[in-house]
Amino acid sequence: MKKAVILINKISAKPLPDEQDVLEQAEAVEKAMQLCGYSSQRAYFDLNMKITWEFLTKLKPDVVFNLVETVSGRGELIHLAPTLLECLEIPFTGSASLPLYISSHKVLAKSRFIELGLPTPCWYYGESITDKMQEGNYIIKPVWEDGSSGITDNSVFYLDESSIDRLQVVRKNRKLFLEEYIQGREFNIAVIGGKNEPLVLPPAEIRFTDYPPGKPHILNYASKWDEGSFEYRNSVRHFDFTGEDASLIEKLKKISLSCWKGFDLGGYARFDFRVNQNNEPFLLEVNANPCLSPDAGFIAAAGKTGLDYKAVVERILADAFARNVII
Ligand SMILES: Nc1ncnc2c1ncn2[C@@H]1O[C@H](COP(=O)(O)OP(=O)(O)O)[C@@H](O)[C@H]1O
Ligand SMILES: [Mg+2]
Repeated sequence: MKKAVILINKISAKPLPDEQDVLEQAEAVEKAMQLCGYSSQRAYFDLNMKITWEFLTKLKPDVVFNLVETVSGRGELIHLAPTLLECLEIPFTGSASLPLYISSHKVLAKSRFIELGLPTPCWYYGESITDKMQEGNYIIKPVWEDGSSGITDNSVFYLDESSIDRLQVVRKNRKLFLEEYIQGREFNIAVIGGKNEPLVLPPAEIRFTDYPPGKPHILNYASKWDEGSFEYRNSVRHFDFTGEDASLIEKLKKISLSCWKGFDLGGYARFDFRVNQNNEPFLLEVNANPCLSPDAGFIAAAGKTGLDYKAVVERILADAFARNVII
C-alpha cells in the first residue's frame, strides 16, 4: 500500500470558522485517499519546521497532500510548506512554492496578470495612493488574506472629498491595497490538473438576491463563513446560464487557463472574477489552494462535470506525480 501524509496547519486555540475549515478538508481527503488505496496519516506544519522535516525524512511517504493554508495564522508564510517538500524531494499536491507565494500576494499576483495580458481591476498600493486619485468606487483589501477575511461592506466606498482621509490609512499600511470597485456580476472558474492537460470545470456565478439598495454586492466574510447571516443565505452559487453568456464564459475560461499556465500552477486552482456592466471580465485573484471541503465551490463545480470527491483527489494526485516536483 502506498503511503501518504496529509499535511495541515496547526489550528489556534480559538479558531474562527475559516481557520477550522482545514480540518473538514483533511477528513474528506483522508477518506478519499483510503478509497484510492493509500494509507495516510496527518502531520502538522508550523513554525517549528524541524519536526515536520524529521518526520517526513523518517517516514519517506510516496506523496504529501498539502492542505497548509497558513503558518502560525500568517498567510505570508504559506509557501514554506511546499518549499520544505521541494527540499526533501517528496512529490506533493497543489502548486509549487513560487506560484503559491506569488498568487497569495494579491498585489504581486496582479502585476503578473498584467505581464500576462490578463485584465484585472486598477489598483493602488503604498506610494501610488495619492490625493489626486479619481473620484469613484473603490474597495480596500488585505494583501495577504483569503476567504474574505478583513472584507466587510465598509471596505467598499465612494472616493470624494468626504472620504479622502481613508487614503492615508491604506497608503501607510502595506498590508492593505486599494482596488477599483467593479460593479457587476461575480464568477468563479475552477481548474483541476491531472496526468495530462488541466480541465476547466463548469463555471459558477454567485448571484446576490434581495440585497437592499446601497448594500454592496460582494462576498464579505459573513457570506462565506457565517451560516446564519443574510449574506450567507442571499449570495447563492449558480451553474445555469443562457446562451447569452456563452461568449463571456469562453473568455473567463481562456483567461483562467492562461493564468494557470502563466503562473505555472499545479493540482487545482480557482479564479475569481467580476464582470462589469459592459460585460468585460476582470480577474480579481487566483486561489492556488482553494478550499476542498465537500460543500465548497470547487467540489460543487467538479460534481457538475461528473467528478466525485474521489475522482477529484485522484486527479490531484496524478498531477502531483506528473509534475514530479523535483526542482
Ligand atoms: N475590485 C472589486 N470589485 C468588486 N468586488 C470586489 C473587488 N475585489 C473584491 N471584491 C469582492 O470581495 C470578495 C473577496 O475578494 P477577493 O479579492 O476574491 O479576496 P479573497 O481572497 O478574500 O476571496 C470578492 O469575491 C468580491 O465579492
Ligand atoms: Mg476570492
